[in-house]
Amino acid sequence: MPTNRKIIIDTDPGQDDAIAILLALASPELEVVGITAVAGNVPLRLTEKNARKICELAGRPDVRVFAGAERPLLRRSVTAEHVHGKTGLDGPVLPEPTMPLQEQHAVDFIIETLMKEESGTITLCPLGPLTNIALALIREPRIAPRIKEIVLMGGGFFEGGNMTPAAEFNIYVDPHAADVVFRSGAPIVVMPLDVTHKALTTAARIEAIRSLGTRVGDAAAALLEFFERFDEEKYGTDGGPLHDPCVIAYLLRPELFTGRHCNVEVEISSELTMGMTVVDWWGVTDRPKNAMVMRDIDADGFFTLLTDRLARL
Ligand code: BDR
Ligand code: CA
Repeated sequence: MPTNRKIIIDTDPGQDDAIAILLALASPELEVVGITAVAGNVPLRLTEKNARKICELAGRPDVRVFAGAERPLLRRSVTAEHVHGKTGLDGPVLPEPTMPLQEQHAVDFIIETLMKEESGTITLCPLGPLTNIALALIREPRIAPRIKEIVLMGGGFFEGGNMTPAAEFNIYVDPHAADVVFRSGAPIVVMPLDVTHKALTTAARIEAIRSLGTRVGDAAAALLEFFERFDEEKYGTDGGPLHDPCVIAYLLRPELFTGRHCNVEVEISSELTMGMTVVDWWGVTDRPKNAMVMRDIDADGFFTLLTDRLARL
């Protein structure tokens, strides 16, 4: 049984981000000290609003939501409305949020929290491009050794990319930020496409969530049904990959995942492979092992956990 954890969720909701937030808010082992929004799937003004919509759906308007970076460090913005719809949360009809957006900038909140809380007690959970996390590390390098762990969704190696043949969306959008994070020295756990492409939202799994018969269950099922339509067509599978909740599931049930500690470097020079996560899976270099890279998941165990937890909201 993992010990209780304080987490900051850095996110660009996004239907799968939304499910990840719901899973975290449904889990008593996790204390969500704040949610920081970043531009990614849709622009920042929508991701921060979507994060608040999801907190309200979970009945948690007390959770603090902060807005962060509006664009990547160096490259032009790239969004994914073709996957997530115009709002980023297309699918269910969710009311406009009434809870406030915090005034503090997300990057300041991340730094302040890490400097204020006891060292080694805050876990960062990035579910989108790594711009906010990189900016925090650049602005206050003393936070790096204070981070308990960065558990992130991003990258892909054996599975290739989903944005380009080489690159996964979160890393592709801000490869320079990802490079800063992977070089930070903080302990990192990576949930790449190699894992998430095995976590498919099959019709039976969505039906189990809908059968909860709750407002959250209905909304989650509608989010997942909208989200999977693009990937079902793309990959020809029953259901689409459920990426971001893997991060939260790892905090709750790490034994659902297996992987290997190895070196990960991010391509930031070649346009052809920009944002590729180059994983030294076979240990063929002497580059430092900077990340625990997951490769496999017990998908049934993952969906059982998710459904059981959503039932609590
Ligand atoms: C990642 O990109 C986004 O579209 C999803 O929310 C997820 O974080 C998957 O490549
Ligand atoms: Ca995301």
